[in-house]
Amino acid sequence: MSDSPRKTVLTAAQPTGILTIGNYLGAIKHWAKLVDEYECLFPLVDMHAITVPYVPAELRQRTRSLVAQYIACGLDPEKCNLFIQSHVTGHAELAWVLGCLTPLGELQRMTQFKDKTAKGSPINSGLFFYPVLMAADILLYNADLVPVGEDQKQHLELARNVAERFNSNYSETFKIPEPKIAATAARVLSLQDPAKKMSKSDENQGATILLNDSPDVIDKKISRAVTDSGSEVKAGSDKPGVTNLLSIMCGFSGRSIEELQSEFFGVGYGDFKKRVAEVVIEGLRPIREKFESVNDDKAYLDGVLKEGEEVAQKKAYKILSKVHRKVGFVERFR
Ligand code: TYM
Repeated sequence: MSDSPRKTVLTAAQPTGILTIGNYLGAIKHWAKLVDEYECLFPLVDMHAITVPYVPAELRQRTRSLVAQYIACGLDPEKCNLFIQSHVTGHAELAWVLGCLTPLGELQRMTQFKDKTAKGSPINSGLFFYPVLMAADILLYNADLVPVGEDQKQHLELARNVAERFNSNYSETFKIPEPKIAATAARVLSLQDPAKKMSKSDENQGATILLNDSPDVIDKKISRAVTDSGSEVKAGSDKPGVTNLLSIMCGFSGRSIEELQSEFFGVGYGDFKKRVAEVVIEGLRPIREKFESVNDDKAYLDGVLKEGEEVAQKKAYKILSKVHRKVGFVERFR
């Protein structure tokens, strides 16, 4: 289906704030390793970002900043396509068609939607439709592989279902995308409430470590991270805070939980946290430096996004024309 014989990877993040180490360890770090082997498309999903309350000027600034963060995390624009979702109108167009194939009940079962509605704040229908737009992001490029953190698993399942349904209603069109979930740190938790995932939109600043946090700030946030009863540095369901810190350390150091547990045998929480902070600070240093060097270069960032858009647009047009024909729309006149 694609122009090149390489398989296609598509995955995305929302420009809803500076990325956290959860986004990095659970997702973006792994995307950077795929760019040599796969045709990679990384849209910045600004249309998803308007499903929750937001400030327009901030969204624009965050979208440009996200591309700088992607580059800082190692997504080399020479090797992958970085573009803005709303620049390729096919995302919205395909979402409509796929929405007409998605039973209401499937969307009502989405846990992320249920969690957000449970908070009691006003909900718009865009938030309800969110997983269909996400399916369109993936299917518009016939992606083979979708590397994501654990929290996106259910959305991926919906994308697979809708692709299968389209293929069975209208004949084989879409590949069925495979999720790829990180082996470690697939769900980094809040430093203040390890029952919740770490999220870039968390209002409690102590709960997250952002990619551009200074060493001092990282040190403070980790020293104040919630730990568990007892004093042993050991992973387990009774120690979610310590387990989270161990898994963060695994993500940055590449070492296993077992290795780290033996290194910290007999060491108290205070010293353990100091060591975790050092590893995180060192791991983020090159990212923060690269981010600072590209974030203000608007001409460069816009150039990257323009090139990415051109590639994405061509690919999207091909599949969308096929979809329109299959569902019975009259061919466009131009
Ligand atoms: P978003 O912006 O919430 O997150 C981007 C990526 O980071 C992962 N992630 C985490 N991984 C581990 N621990 C965490 N605490 C953590 N928080 C976030 C996410 O799993 C994701 O891989 N719905 C998506 C965006 C999206 C998308 C798509 C993804 C839109 N269209 C198409 C894949 C394919 C989202 O909100 O990601």
